[in-house]
Amino acid sequence: MSKGSRFVVEGGNRLSGKIKVGGAKNSALKLMAAALLTEETTILTNVPIINDVKTMAAVLERLGARVAYSEPGVVEIKPTYPLYPEAPYELVSQMRASIIVLGPLLARLGKARVAMPGGCNIGLRKIDMHIRGLEAFGARFEVGHGFIEAYSEKLVAAKIALDYPSVGATENLLMAATLAEGETVIDNAAREPEIVDLADFLNMMGARIKGAGTSTIMVEGVNKLHGGEYRVMPDRIEAGTFLVAAAITKGDVVLEDVSPEHLELAINKLRSIGAIVKVGNNEIRVIGRDVIRPADIATLPYPGFPTDLQTQFMTILAIAEGTSIITENIFENRFMFVAELNRMGSDIKTEGRHAIIRGVSGLSGAPVNAPDLRGGAALVVAGLVAEGVTEIADIYHIDRGYHNFEQKLRAVGASIERVSDTDRSNRLKIVR
Ligand code: EPZ
Repeated sequence: MSKGSRFVVEGGNRLSGKIKVGGAKNSALKLMAAALLTEETTILTNVPIINDVKTMAAVLERLGARVAYSEPGVVEIKPTYPLYPEAPYELVSQMRASIIVLGPLLARLGKARVAMPGGCNIGLRKIDMHIRGLEAFGARFEVGHGFIEAYSEKLVAAKIALDYPSVGATENLLMAATLAEGETVIDNAAREPEIVDLADFLNMMGARIKGAGTSTIMVEGVNKLHGGEYRVMPDRIEAGTFLVAAAITKGDVVLEDVSPEHLELAINKLRSIGAIVKVGNNEIRVIGRDVIRPADIATLPYPGFPTDLQTQFMTILAIAEGTSIITENIFENRFMFVAELNRMGSDIKTEGRHAIIRGVSGLSGAPVNAPDLRGGAALVVAGLVAEGVTEIADIYHIDRGYHNFEQKLRAVGASIERVSDTDRSNRLKIVR
């Protein structure tokens, strides 16, 4: 954990060159949980080497699975039997996505004890739809002392309609359905590409899933799943972060090993802001231009504009020639980033779910704190174009979801370095 480190960014460099995008954090974590559904070995490749993956590996090992990194980006998971059905608080509180082991544990063992995932700094992050959906399969829940306990003699297929297309709830229910007796239908399911990646992985393991990526997913339960090898899809949010970094610095960057079809709205929005974006089979070239036009954005479930790119786009709109409005419809508290960006000279005010962004001529470097994973990444993007030096503290948030973030940016010309707080204080002593 890189607590006590910070990024020091010197603004003004245009980014130019190629960046290889890594595997998707928000798919890899679920595929690792899905590996619990079989007692055979699964091998995941193109796994991002990030702290959340290490946390999920620790959760799986606590449940009794053996997790090995045969080489960078390759994770082998062998769930020994019997699995131990408890995901402990100290791990779940580090990463709320751990709740995704609930469905697999219930499907394999008929019981699960998972610590209540704390909210996090972007919102309450409730799990009522996860629980209600699993109850429809016949699971019984008891919640108390900070834990969720679930029991089910046998999961029986159900017809479930989600009140809201929750990504996590869709994933938990999808995994439980693979081993439930009968045909499950999940209506109003999330349509994110990560759901399709999970369904493809499960079908490779012998599941019978149809309709992933649409609002209606059908699953015919089977008795057993087998192991196998699977490559994690490219990370569309890491890719989108670099698209904005290239555009805001008026650079010329080619992203490699990316799925452009997963970024349609973000690409359209960048074009309307004024960047040139050229799309290839599995690469995207973005060329930033001097003009940065304002734009309005409303975050929505996929295929709507992704909430995970909201802060990055707010950064480029902060220096647009005009006023933009961003509406955050997914999380109730995802504007923590605004206060930090305003310290760098942006002129943004928030009213409920709306942020009104009055474009300014430029940003100025300042000491700021990463409020969360994507807000932290967006502060780095702001630092790339701000006048002078920006120091971003609390970058452990960024290390949860971005591998080699500073190395990838330096390789295309950014002036960014990671400094531990002890080094920094020693340097300051020297300066004094
Ligand atoms: C996943 O979170 C992603 N995380 C998030 O990415 C992403 O922002 C989100 O999907 C939306 O795309 C992972 O995949 C690990 P949701 P998840 O269930 O599954 C409410 C990042 O930066 N809700 O679709 O938690 C919930 O409170 C992260 O990589 C309920 O009310 O998203 C939230 O307001 C941030 N009850 C909204 O729905 C429930 O039972 C969206 O949640 C479930 C969710």
